[in-house]
Amino acid sequence: MKKIVFVTGSSGLIGSEVCGFFAAQGYSVHGLDNNQRAVFFGAPGDTRWNQQRLQRELPDFAHHELDVRDRAGLQALVREIRPAVIVHTAAQPSHDRAAAIPFDDFDTNAVGTLNLLEAARQACPEAPFIHMSTNKVYGDAPNRIALAELDSRWDYADPAYAHGIPETFTIDQSKHSLFGASKLAADVLVQEYGRYFNMPTCCLRGGCLTGPNHSGVELHGFLSYLIKCNITGREYSIFGYKGKQVRDNIHSLDVARFMHAFAQAPRAGEVYNLGGGKGNACSILEAFKLAEKFIGRAQVYRYLDQPRAGDHICYYSDLRKMRAHYPAWDITKSLEQTAQEIVEAWQLRTDK
Ligand SMILES: NC(=O)c1ccc[n+]([C@@H]2O[C@H](COP(=O)([O-])OP(=O)(O)OC[C@H]3O[C@@H](n4cnc5c(N)ncnc54)[C@H](O)[C@@H]3O)[C@@H](O)[C@H]2O)c1
Repeated sequence: MKKIVFVTGSSGLIGSEVCGFFAAQGYSVHGLDNNQRAVFFGAPGDTRWNQQRLQRELPDFAHHELDVRDRAGLQALVREIRPAVIVHTAAQPSHDRAAAIPFDDFDTNAVGTLNLLEAARQACPEAPFIHMSTNKVYGDAPNRIALAELDSRWDYADPAYAHGIPETFTIDQSKHSLFGASKLAADVLVQEYGRYFNMPTCCLRGGCLTGPNHSGVELHGFLSYLIKCNITGREYSIFGYKGKQVRDNIHSLDVARFMHAFAQAPRAGEVYNLGGGKGNACSILEAFKLAEKFIGRAQVYRYLDQPRAGDHICYYSDLRKMRAHYPAWDITKSLEQTAQEIVEAWQLRTDK
């Protein structure tokens, strides 16, 4: 009997990568997605193409059209399939979108996660439960770190953060956005099911997760959307901080690889900052250069001197805890490689 992995948000960037990766490791894959991304972001956020790709390419894949807010439906499904591993990536993922849809955001991110945790506790408490969290749980507190302004980016001036932001960083008393708050509620619940019920759970606090299978839109999917703008000649808007704001980018394959490593040797109630680290960090201005290098066209953009509320000026993850707990894991895809793959994927896609 093959082991079963249950992946929520299976048509999204991370979910779809996880489905493919675990399938290649011999798992039978059950995906849950209701294409809510198209409701959150309109047609450009539609993920049906990715669901259909999984159904076409993975021989042992079952799609479940279900909403994580459907508590009874989720309980029945988890009881029926009794997965060996659960990977939770379904979410309202946008910082900026949340303010317009506070109930949809919280019901999906916080309550949906509680629904899944409880379904797991009742049906398969021994299954590793891997939750995609976000660096927005730290709110805008990273902006209080002393910064140095370099030619094309901000960087930490405080040597305490030379390796990036560690998991011990404060999550309290800062501006999170409603998205950050709903994700933080979920993050704490996932930790609690680990500590209180001793379930093998972890929270992965993502930096910028990216890759060729993202349906990047202005409000979510920074590198994917920026590259799409260059390819289609659309104007990209920079919101404040001189375009020098820094994000650390991790390819979805390296995210899936870490999840698999955790599933093989799980721990209870763990938290990891999962991003590209300093090595895969870039500013928006530097990302323009990357896109221009692979596409051969100058980026069209406008500058608005108004940062997004709660946006990080400089954020990159300290990867040392991940590397210490899972020494066989490391970043395998450089920023250049990742950008090139995204360019190639957008060039082939018709939904630009
Ligand atoms: N992409 C990033 O840069 C990033 C950064 C940090 C954290 N994260 C987190 O990683 C996770 C995955 O992000 P992603 O980039 O793959 O997002 P995504 O939007 O590409 O995928 C999420 C999927 O979940 C589905 N979904 C949303 N609400 C649902 C609901 N109520 N019921 C069922 N399905 C639903 C969507 O249709 C979509 O296919 C999210 O939890 C997100 O908060 C992402």
